[in-house]
Amino acid sequence: MTEETSARRHPDGIIIALDGPAGSGKSSTARAVARHLGYRHLDSGAFYRAITLAAMQAGIPPDAWPSLAPETLDRLDVHGRPSDEGYALSVAGREVSAEIRAPEVNAHVSRMAAVGAVREWLMDALREAGARGGLVADGRDIGTVVFPDAELKVFLVADPDERARRRLREHGLAEPDDEEVRGEAARLQGRDETDSTRAVAPLARAPDAVTLDTTRLEFEAQVLEIVRLAKARGG
Ligand code: CDP
Repeated sequence: MTEETSARRHPDGIIIALDGPAGSGKSSTARAVARHLGYRHLDSGAFYRAITLAAMQAGIPPDAWPSLAPETLDRLDVHGRPSDEGYALSVAGREVSAEIRAPEVNAHVSRMAAVGAVREWLMDALREAGARGGLVADGRDIGTVVFPDAELKVFLVADPDERARRRLREHGLAEPDDEEVRGEAARLQGRDETDSTRAVAPLARAPDAVTLDTTRLEFEAQVLEIVRLAKARGG
């Protein structure tokens, strides 16, 4: 697609969809790519995390999540407000960007994300964020369901042990031992299993996505590779 046609489709630039399994580095990569291009970053996982946190804080037990009504979801008061580079998540007016990364949320979020009504409830907010383009969105179903017409789709993969090491490093454990790596890899793979096998919008590679294996790639190299692909498509 030429720059001109893409500009007509989305006035602020192209849409880049970045999907992949847990801990594959989607969010940090998406944030850095957005910064390079002067685009906004939409971390869709943060929205599922905020809904999960809000339901847990409201005392709604996981068994009741599959029957959550849109009105109940409205009352949970979850909002993503455009911030400098992305979206700041709040629950009942309180900023929750750090809390949504807690182990309790990690352990429950895939269960919430499997609920079709929850995904539907979120869809308008996610699509609205992309209405003008100039967006790097990351998640599980961005290239397949949320923005199937994204100009660039990338599917990020990496070995489970490497993903686990990166995730542990992020949480301040610079040199994890083998047992810690195995434990974290099992947790990530458990989430991938739930995300890939659910009935609604499962984790999947879009047929027209570029697969990027980051196991042996430096962070900056993977960012620059996606920026290069984006520029080739009018970004
Ligand atoms: O950063 P990490 O890979 O650990 O996960 P995340 O992107 O924050 O997503 C957390 C969870 O939200 C995932 O495990 C999925 O269950 C769900 N999710 C989803 O179902 N669809 C998306 N587009 C994004 C996240």
